[in-house]
Amino acid sequence: MTQDEMKKEAGWAALKYVKPDSIVGVGTGSTVKHFIDALGTKKNDIKGAVSSSVDSTEKLKALGIEVFDCNDVDKLDVYVDGADEINPAHDMIKGGGAALTREKIVAAISDKFVCIVDGSKKVDILGEFPLPVEVIPMARSYVARELVKLGGYPEYRENVVTDNGNIILDVRGLSITNPKDLEDKINAIAGVVTVGLFAHRGADIVITGTPEGAIIEE
Ligand code: 5RP
Repeated sequence: MTQDEMKKEAGWAALKYVKPDSIVGVGTGSTVKHFIDALGTKKNDIKGAVSSSVDSTEKLKALGIEVFDCNDVDKLDVYVDGADEINPAHDMIKGGGAALTREKIVAAISDKFVCIVDGSKKVDILGEFPLPVEVIPMARSYVARELVKLGGYPEYRENVVTDNGNIILDVRGLSITNPKDLEDKINAIAGVVTVGLFAHRGADIVITGTPEGAIIEE
């Protein structure tokens, strides 16, 4: 089974958490693409979606799913999104697709975070995947110097502007043994919009696509 087929297993298995007549929080990425395809089969049973990126919004609309402005929704039952890495405590690194800030906002208004991954995303310690940090453009050099002080090696992601008009620094060389503490420290740097560490708001449910089918941890 290919990696994409495992992503598909996970994406389609997440449908069981979608409640009838609800508005669904939808993340971003190649695993979520499969979830969006699955959601398309339920479009007449749900009210619509709140999306975490322009890309997902376009995919949802193309399937005829109404996309609501996040400001018009108080609370969501469920948010379904992928991850770049996830540890046994269900802390995650996200932002490989540069959508981390909107992902964190939609996750914040959701009761349940359902994380959909293939097995390659599961790690014991976060940090092998470079940690994305969304940064206001004028703060790029300052933030990079501060990230070096925290032990990382930041790299400017060339030719990427986020949906919010900012840049991404990818930080290598971190072994993240205390994700909540690092999330706080990086978010406290002036000019940082969001760090792609999801520790204060980790996943509640993890669905892993495998050749034997989807494995669900609640
Ligand atoms: C986008 C993300 C994605 O959830 C993450 O990069 C995983 O993507 P994929 O499902 O394509 O492997 O955080 O910002």
